[in-house]
Formats: sequence, structure tokens, C-alpha cells
Amino acid sequence: MLKSQSLDVEQVRKDFPILKRKIHGKRLVYLDNAATTQKPRSVIRSMVDFYSKHNANPHRGVHQLSIESTEAFDAGRKKVVSFINASAFEEIVYTRGATESLNLVRYAWGSRHIKKGDLIVLTIMEHHSNIVPWQLLAREVGARIEYVGVTPDGSLRFEELEALMGQSPALVAFTQSSNVLGTINDAQKICSMGRRAGATTVVDAAQSVPHMQVDVQKIGCDFLAFSGHKMLGPTGIGVLYGRKEILAEMEPFLSGGDMIKEVHISGARWNDLPYKFEAGTQNVEGAVGLGAAIDYLNSLGMDKVRSHEEQLAAYALEQMGSVPGITVYGPKDVSLRGGVVSFNLGDIHPHDLASILDEEGVAIRSGMHCAQPLLESMGLSATSRASFYVYNSYDDVDALMGALSKARRIFCL
Ligand code: ALA
Repeated sequence: MLKSQSLDVEQVRKDFPILKRKIHGKRLVYLDNAATTQKPRSVIRSMVDFYSKHNANPHRGVHQLSIESTEAFDAGRKKVVSFINASAFEEIVYTRGATESLNLVRYAWGSRHIKKGDLIVLTIMEHHSNIVPWQLLAREVGARIEYVGVTPDGSLRFEELEALMGQSPALVAFTQSSNVLGTINDAQKICSMGRRAGATTVVDAAQSVPHMQVDVQKIGCDFLAFSGHKMLGPTGIGVLYGRKEILAEMEPFLSGGDMIKEVHISGARWNDLPYKFEAGTQNVEGAVGLGAAIDYLNSLGMDKVRSHEEQLAAYALEQMGSVPGITVYGPKDVSLRGGVVSFNLGDIHPHDLASILDEEGVAIRSGMHCAQPLLESMGLSATSRASFYVYNSYDDVDALMGALSKARRIFCL
């Protein structure tokens, strides 16, 4: 039996209670990790522990529990700082997720800086959450958007990016890793091109931070967004990284309690960073859970997480290569892609395929994956998608392949 060269998957699996579940009487084979990930016991426990022992409103009380809650909230933030190598505590803003992080940039930065006639550069492989906020902004101020296309093997067309950079864009927003194609974009190179062109750069790292070492200083981006739930953490917590200088000159996004220093009848002064962007009672248990998820990933080692997923992606691509009637999308070279494999099998609709796979206990996602412009550019209306994480094994890929054979038999392919 094939084993990961990087992670002790059997050991890892013991940390995830949900993996003991049976689905339709079959072993759960969870391959929908690009949508959300399962949670290890340490993450679940950290949140139970917070509510059992430390719960209070942070930053609001001088009593012991409020102090403990504040400490827990900020301890989580310090873990995020070092996980993505931010240069300061002030650069990490908690949000509800990557979508809210991108909307924060659109409202608090974009509304003041993007002007009529400005160019916003996106790529066609963006998730809707890195398209729609910019479409709304462009409509509001009269800016224009251009999309960088994708080659047939799923790589960005750098010559198009190069040409658009020549038009002095005001903003370049792109995904570091595609949730459909698996493509890993060279974020450092794109940000350096953006900087030279005078653009502000925004990285959607929802599919990269959970799966590889991400260093914001090395990338050199202005903003970077990701979600806790895609990296073993809870839902409802995400991060916006912003360069301190740029966050400092921005106006608040949401307003209310905690984001202020003083409020008078005549007006208000804003709190220090990062609290200026964190209005209202915050998701402390989310920050605690995200901190525990970071601890868990660090205990595995992000280099090992990445190489484990490369091995599974390589195995899945190899196995799928021999399935008659299958079309697999995205780069063939696993060093250029994450553990996301989108495909179509004959003319079976992806929703039908996903239902058949579900009968076998195999959970995949089917549909447009919130990336309709990409699918339309490929002449598709849907794909099936398997996405891997730390608890997936070669056995899981075999189970996927077995379920695909069953689907082929049912549809007489
Ligand atoms: N963005 C998530 C996905 O790609 C929901 O599935």
C-alpha cells in the first residue's frame, strides 16, 4: 500500500473525529477540502476550553475573565503574524473570512483610491469573491476591469499581464492558488510587476495559506486575504493582512464599538491598528480556534503539508490519466499546482457524478465552484472537483477512482 513520504496520515487521521463517520454505510472519504476542511480535536477543544473557562468580552472589562479573553484573542493574532511572516501585529486584521477581507479592501481602500477611468487588473481564474467587489467598485466610480486569461494547461498568460501592466493599473488583484484549476501563481513575481507599474496589490490566499508556506514580506503584497475554515480552523474567522503604512492611512470599514479611541457629540477618533478595523464584539473563539489550527499545521510543518499534497495530486493525475472519457483540468506539473483536481467524466453531469460518489462515501464538490467567468472561458458550465488535505491518503484516491469506475458502469461509458 502506498504511503505519504511526508506525513504520517494514519496518525493525523486519529486527530479528526469526523473521519470516523460512516456515510451511507461507507467510510467517509472527504475530498471537498477546497470548500472547507475538517477540524482536529485540538481546535475543537480550544474553543470548548475558551467557553468553559475564559469567556468574556475582550478589551471591554478590567475583570479577570475579560483580561483572559483579550489575551486569548491577541495570542491568536500573534500566531497569525508569524504564520505568514507579517512584520507587525498591527498588520493582521480579523474578519469573518476571505470574502469579508476583500470587501474591506474594496470599501476602506478602494472607494478612496480608485478613480474614474482607473484600470483594475484581475485574472479570469478568480473566485467570485475576488471579482464581484471590484465590479461593484468599478461601477461606482467608473473604473474599468481587464482580466488576464489562462492557457489551455491552466497557467496565467503572463504576456497579457505584462501588457496590462504597461497601462499603469491602479490595482492588481489575483489568486495565489486557483480553487478550480489548482494552479499556483507566482505571487512574488506578480506583486513585483504590480509594484513597478505603480499598482496596489491584493492577493486572495484562501487556497494557498492553508496548503503551503506563505510569506507576505517575501511576496511583497499590499493586502492578502484568507479564511480560517479552509485551514482546519472554525468558520466565521478570517484574516486581512495589510501593510502597516497602507492600513494606517485608511478610514474604517465597519464602525461602532471598539474601533474608536474617543467619541464626542461632534465626532470620533479611531482606535490604533488593527482594532480600527474590528468594530463590535469580536469572534474570540474563532481567533482561539484559528490559533489552535495554526499550531496544528506548524506541528506537521507546512513544507510537509505541501509535499504531501503534491504526492496525492501526482497520484490522482496519474490514476485519472488512464480513465477513458475523463478530462482533467489544470497544470500537469504538480510543482505548479495545489491539491485540487477538477475534471469531467464523459457527459455525466458533475452533480450526478457527485451524487454517485456520495453513495460510496466520497465527498467531492460539483458545479461552478464560485468561478463562473473561468468556467465560461473554458466553455464549461460545471466540473467535478476533488481537493486534498493533510488527512487524505492514497487510499482516499483509490476510493475516488473506484467510485468513478462505478459511475462509468452506471452510465455505460
Ligand atoms: N470557495 C470555496 C470553494 O471553492 C467555497 O469550494
